[in-house]
Amino acid sequence: MNKPMTTPTNESTADFNAWASDMQMRMESVLAVNMPLASISPMRLHEAMRYSTLGGGKRVRALLAYAAGEFCSAELEKIDIPAAAVEIIHAFSLVHDDLPCMDDDDLRRGKPTTHKQYGNAMALLVGDALQSLAFQLISQDKLLNNATQKLQMLHILALASGSRGMAGGQAIDIESIGIPLTREELEQMHIHKTGALIRAAALLGAYSADEINEEKVKAIDHFAKAIGLAFQVVDDILDAEADTQTLGKTAGKDAKNNKSTYVTILGLSAAKQLASELHANAMAALSFYGREADLLRHLANFITQRSS
Ligand code: IPE
Ligand code: IPE
Ligand code: MG
Ligand code: MG
Ligand code: MG
Repeated sequence: MNKPMTTPTNESTADFNAWASDMQMRMESVLAVNMPLASISPMRLHEAMRYSTLGGGKRVRALLAYAAGEFCSAELEKIDIPAAAVEIIHAFSLVHDDLPCMDDDDLRRGKPTTHKQYGNAMALLVGDALQSLAFQLISQDKLLNNATQKLQMLHILALASGSRGMAGGQAIDIESIGIPLTREELEQMHIHKTGALIRAAALLGAYSADEINEEKVKAIDHFAKAIGLAFQVVDDILDAEADTQTLGKTAGKDAKNNKSTYVTILGLSAAKQLASELHANAMAALSFYGREADLLRHLANFITQRSS
């Protein structure tokens, strides 16, 4: 884990891309080391947990944790486990999101979904086990300074994953199938199902620092709220516009499943306009800061300009 970090030395996108690729590889190995081995019993569950977590995904939440951590002068090693914990909760949410009783998807990260590969019951258990593992990893992390710091992180992650966060947003999503939501209701759904965990990722990065800078935490929180909502607006746009091959998941699934999205409520062009307004809001949250916030700025660009 002592791989040197490529920190952008100027504002170039190439430098950011190199940094992001370093951090994605770093996260892959943090996850690989901390995920139970498939050779350990119960082997099939462990194999399915590894299948669902490793070798794919953009790792946006980990990148956010690393960027926010760097902004708050956290040591890179101390961000590893909190960042991995958020990625693990995210992977769990995807496994359950794809189940036949939810979105009923066959393809995820360019591979058959977990339930297609391992069956529904095993996919359910993968989600359960990943959820527990995320909290276990933070609770046993030896690099975090003290129990208070860990407790704060566990609290943030629990809130973001539960009924007032991701699970709650997913409940709104499922209950509103075929029922057009108002714009306000849609915003609430997106803020919860996707925004909450993205916000938690940024906050966990910030709370990995030895000393908490409250002003910076506030700025990060404001930034992450805006970019978390933007993330799902762009996800809705890509579902309508991109192709399955590029996405690594089935395109056009929202329309097929009768979901209310920003595309159905506002139309494509207003949804794109909203994504760029949210991007601007996120940038505004960093306006008091100079170069030290550049990773976060680049990440905001990456999130709103991505093609998958
Ligand atoms: C997909 O998230 C699910 C949403 C919350 C919109 P990502 O687009 O971050 O998925 P991966 O991790 O890159 O596969
Ligand atoms: C998923 O939203 C949000 C969570 C997994 C919590 P979507 O259902 O739009 O995600 P995709 O498009 O399947 O990745
Ligand atoms: Mg869904
Ligand atoms: Mg889905
Ligand atoms: Mg989607």
